[in-house]
Amino acid sequence: MTTSHQDPDRVRIFDTTMRDGEQSPGASMNLDEKLRIADTLERMGVDIIEAGFPIASNGDFEAVHEISKVVETATVCGLARASRGDIDRAAEALKPARQKRIHTFLSTSPLHMKYKLQMEPEEVHQAVIDSVSHARNLCDDVEWSPEDGTRTEHDFLCRTVESAIKAGATTINIPDTVGYTVPEEFGALIAMLFNRVPNIDKATVSTHCHNDLGLAVANSLAGVANGARQVECAINGLGERAGNAALEEVVMALRTRRDLMPFDTDVKTELITKASRLVAGITGFAVQNNKAIVGANAFAHEAGIHQDGMLKHAGTYEIMTPESVGLKQSNLVLGKHSGRHAFREKLRELGFELGDNAVQDAFRRFKDLCDKKKDVFDDDIIALVDDAVTRTNDRIRLVSLHVVCGTGAEKTSDIELEIDGEIVATQGTGDGPVDATFNAIEKLFRHQAQLSLYQVSAVTEGTDAQAEVTVRLDEDGKSVNGQGADVDTLVASAKAYVNALNKLLVKRARTAPAALTA
Ligand code: KIV
Ligand code: ZN
Repeated sequence: MTTSHQDPDRVRIFDTTMRDGEQSPGASMNLDEKLRIADTLERMGVDIIEAGFPIASNGDFEAVHEISKVVETATVCGLARASRGDIDRAAEALKPARQKRIHTFLSTSPLHMKYKLQMEPEEVHQAVIDSVSHARNLCDDVEWSPEDGTRTEHDFLCRTVESAIKAGATTINIPDTVGYTVPEEFGALIAMLFNRVPNIDKATVSTHCHNDLGLAVANSLAGVANGARQVECAINGLGERAGNAALEEVVMALRTRRDLMPFDTDVKTELITKASRLVAGITGFAVQNNKAIVGANAFAHEAGIHQDGMLKHAGTYEIMTPESVGLKQSNLVLGKHSGRHAFREKLRELGFELGDNAVQDAFRRFKDLCDKKKDVFDDDIIALVDDAVTRTNDRIRLVSLHVVCGTGAEKTSDIELEIDGEIVATQGTGDGPVDATFNAIEKLFRHQAQLSLYQVSAVTEGTDAQAEVTVRLDEDGKSVNGQGADVDTLVASAKAYVNALNKLLVKRARTAPAALTA
């Protein structure tokens, strides 16, 4: 079998959590959050980090630019439509990167060309040549994607791919944009490109599969089996609509079934759980309990017969170890009397590399937590640090909250906020304590956004567990998720609501990418 021109035994992992993933409604990420994700992805050994779509907004440009400054080993990639303006903006954003890639795309399916682009196939073909040539003049590493590739006529697909490679594309990515294909068909499509495109050996062939039929990972692996050596994927399967192929599933499938798919990735799988939690925390997209690899139940055994087997030999019911994805027992950690040094060590062990001020702040909050909660676990520390980092650069902050509730009592909420440095206070009433609190916040910060989700979960077990609250707000077709954690559910709720408002302010400043259907 022919494969892409790179090392035939290695599959490159291209992460698009911060580009396609961020296109999921509600999954907005601010600059600090993107920098944290980029740092984790780089430490995980991801080969290419697609950091955003620079023309889409100043925020996207800045994110790609800042990530380009700090990433050392991975290639940083920026997305661009087939226009000079997009490509120039991507090149500008990527300037500081040590290794950079411009990813440009154009639809090639009859449906997209006719209705979306309103262009004739010949015009599309020329635009592919022009855009890829222009990108290649600015950057040595150029990826081209025929959007809606799986619904493109084969002759036209082969012709555009061949021309893109001639024009300088070094990676050819085949998107299943609408998640329509099935493994057999997708594998055959990749094989067809290897058989029919004469210069295909000059490029790395890549897959980009959406999960509308729940087949994104299976399709990606079928692509690999037929010669693709780059897989585009996202942490927790984040992405447009039903999402992209989940990075953790692709990587663990390759690792676990090396007997059938003898290909390596450079991903340090022990960091998978941390990356998953980080992305879930930042986006507010909770991972379902039975999600493969990173769901809470992925390594849990309930049935007695399974538990019995596990005690006799873990291999009876376990195809991977929890340790291989970085899952540890939630350990009882330090107590009230633990010192700063031990706390810093614990943060390092949990994967947080924080500056002195952030450690100081987290330590103070840890001590407060010890006063309120008997047992403090690793997960408490993670929630505490995530909560602190979530609030950096916020324009609105929660200062204090006092709530009256219970049977018969009128529910009132006295709240103090700091808005752009000024302290303001009011009282709200409502049907319940959360309603009263949210009404009070709205009185202090007027907005038209609709509350579309309010969700509470416990970080650990026990009645003194910290509550982790997610709030989703929708405004003008844009949605944002806010998070808050605290041992007091109402304080966590207020923090989550305030966090969502802060994200909304960031989102309002950003313009939506025009005509982006990817
Ligand atoms: O799904 C898609 O087609 C995309 C392209 C931009 C690669 O995201
Ligand atoms: Zn996509």
